Order: sequence, then structure tokens, then C-alpha cells
Amino acid sequence: MAGDKLKGLVLCGGRGTRLRPLTYTRAKQLIPIANRPSVFYAIDDLAAAGIRDIGVVVSPETGAEVEEAFGDGEAWGVSFTFILQEAPLGLAHAVKTARPFLGRDSFLMYLGDNLLSGGLSRLVEVFRSGDLHALVLLTRVEDPTQFGVAVVDLQGRVVRLVEKPKDPPSDLALVGVYVFHPVIHEVIETLRPSSRGEYEITDAIQGLLDRGLRVAAHRVEGWWKDTGKPGDLLDANRVVLSRLSRRLDGDAVDSEVSGEVVVETGARVVRSVVRGPVHIAAGALVEESHVGPYTSVGRGARVVRSDVEYSIILDEAAVIDLPCRLDASVLGQGATVRGGANRPHRHSVRLVLGDRSLVSL
Ligand code: DAU
Repeated sequence: MAGDKLKGLVLCGGRGTRLRPLTYTRAKQLIPIANRPSVFYAIDDLAAAGIRDIGVVVSPETGAEVEEAFGDGEAWGVSFTFILQEAPLGLAHAVKTARPFLGRDSFLMYLGDNLLSGGLSRLVEVFRSGDLHALVLLTRVEDPTQFGVAVVDLQGRVVRLVEKPKDPPSDLALVGVYVFHPVIHEVIETLRPSSRGEYEITDAIQGLLDRGLRVAAHRVEGWWKDTGKPGDLLDANRVVLSRLSRRLDGDAVDSEVSGEVVVETGARVVRSVVRGPVHIAAGALVEESHVGPYTSVGRGARVVRSDVEYSIILDEAAVIDLPCRLDASVLGQGATVRGGANRPHRHSVRLVLGDRSLVSL
């Protein structure tokens, strides 16, 4: 008999190659969305669904950083168990590594680079009431070749699953949130690596289907993001920012601040125009600039005599005297983009800069 308890498993290992240069210096799951590590939204969801016992899979490269950012879980009323996966051998391998933590309990697995609106409570309810061996989340996507893809019959039952197919059999992608019965461990023991050399969770779920076990699919309600690439990060930032409520705790001096704008305590907006949604974190400075919409400015970051739109500026980064608008950009922590005194506003630039980069325009 499996235990009644539902544990959480959050995957924060992997290499994050598609987000270089940002992931040379940090875990991709910690890249901020609206000035909070993106994976914190997953923890919010787990805590809200009443899942308190959470395993966090980490890599040797970024484990310490992830552990430090998560802390002891008290802020959410949850407890974390950090699980070291020596190499990124795939999602099913991560589950195998976590097996001592998971024991004989069912678990909800949340990929640390996924972001979901609408919460998890309904999903947990469907899993429990359906007496299922796996519950997967599906959504229609434009390019299914980038995802696990499901074939579903007329009754909505999952018939077949295939990971990143060259020739997709449908446009229904697997979202990175799954609920599993512990029988999944038995299937994982029998898996072989895929053509990309990983133990795929998609193959493990296919293994459940092959054994005639109960796999159900639930459609995503609301939006879903996989923050795997810079454009996805910006889109996730846009979506999260669009849920902001105006809060001006810092200073706004001789400035026009309109719409849903958060200026945290200790942040300063001086002789500037800020058009929400925008999040300006503690200690940041916006001076003689235009910021927004859809922009987050990190802790201690500076935007001075510049225009910034639809961008993520990480902590301590600086945008100074730019001759053109900075658009659709992600600036790593402490990165500096600097222009000269002459500032005709004719063009815009798009940049994705790693931590501590320096660009002069
Ligand atoms: O985002 C949804 C997609 O996620 C699904 O449609 C696919 O079926 C599923 O395989 C997965 O594909 P990705 O290629 O996007 O997975 P990625 O390698 O980016 O890893 C997802 C998360 O899991 C990420 O936070 C890193 C972590 N991870 C990854 C691997 C390979 C680990 O913790 N350990 C690993 O070994």
C-alpha cells in the first residue's frame, strides 16, 4: 500500500544551457521574475495546496546557491530536503535519486523552470479522487518539438507519450507538473536512456500506460510558462508583473508614476516617468529615465538618463546614459550598459548579458 501523504518534489538541477550566459553564474531556477526567484512561485503553489514536505533536487554546481536562497522553508510553512543529483541524467533519474526521500508516498513533481497560474489544489483533488497512478498536465503549444507530447483519445484519455518528437503526433505538450503514485519507481528501474542520453520521465509515464495502469490528463487552466529561454523569461516576467497591485513604499520625487507599479522601501524614482506594470526593488535608483511597461529593476540596480522597456534588470546592474531604448533585454547581476552624453532616441537595443558584463554604446 502506498502512503496517503502527498510529498512535493521540485527539480532544480540540470545545466540551464539555453539560458547562457545567465546560467554560467547562477541556477536558472533562481533567475528573478518580478524580482523573486522564478522557482519561488512553484513553492507558493505547493504550500497553498497543503504540500509541506518538499524535496528539492539540486546539482553539484548550483546546490549551495539554491539551498541558501530557499532557506529552511519557514517563510512558507514547509520543510525542504535537499537532494544532490550528481549529474543531469534526466527527469526520471532525478526521481530515482530522490527515492529515499519519497519512500512509499505519492508525490507532486514540479520542474523548477516552470511557472503555472491557477494553483495546484484542483490537480491534487483530481489525483486523489481518481485513484490514479499518474496525472499529467497538458496544454496546446505552437512548437511541440520542444516538449513531451501526448496523444489523447476522444474520451480525453492519454494513449501515447513521446519526448521532443521531430514529427509531433499532436500539439498537446506535457507541462512540467506531474502527480505520481509510487509505482512509478518500478517503471523507472526498467528505463534505458533516450537518444539524447537522458532517463526521460515521459518514457516512464509511457511505461505506466504499457502496463495498463491509470494515467489521466488534466488541461492547464490559465497560463503556463517554461522559462527555458531568454524570451520565455521576459514573457513570464510580463505575466507575473501584470498581476501586480500598485504599492509605492519608496520615494517618487518629481516623477510621473502611473499604473500598477511597486516601488519598494528604499528605492528611489527621481525626475522620471514609470509606466506600470513595473517592479522596482529595494535600494534601486531610477533617475531622469523612462521605465516600463513590463520591466523589473532589481535590488540596488540603477537606471539613469535612459529608457528601459519590457526588460529584466537584475540586482546591482546599471543602465546609464543610453543613446537608445533598452528593449526586451535581460541584464545579469552587476552588469553595466553605458552610453555617451549624446542621446538621440532613434533605435532600441536588445541584450542578454551575464552577471558583471560591461557594454558601452
Ligand atoms: O517544461 C516542460 C517540459 O519539461 C516537458 O514538456 C518535457 O516533457 C520534459 O522533459 C521537460 O523538458 P525540458 O527539456 O524543458 O527539461 P529540462 O532539461 O529543461 O529540465 C527541467 C527542469 O528539471 C529544470 O529546472 C532542470 C531540472 N533537471 C533537469 C534534468 C535533465 C534536473 O533537476 N535534473 C536533470 O537531470
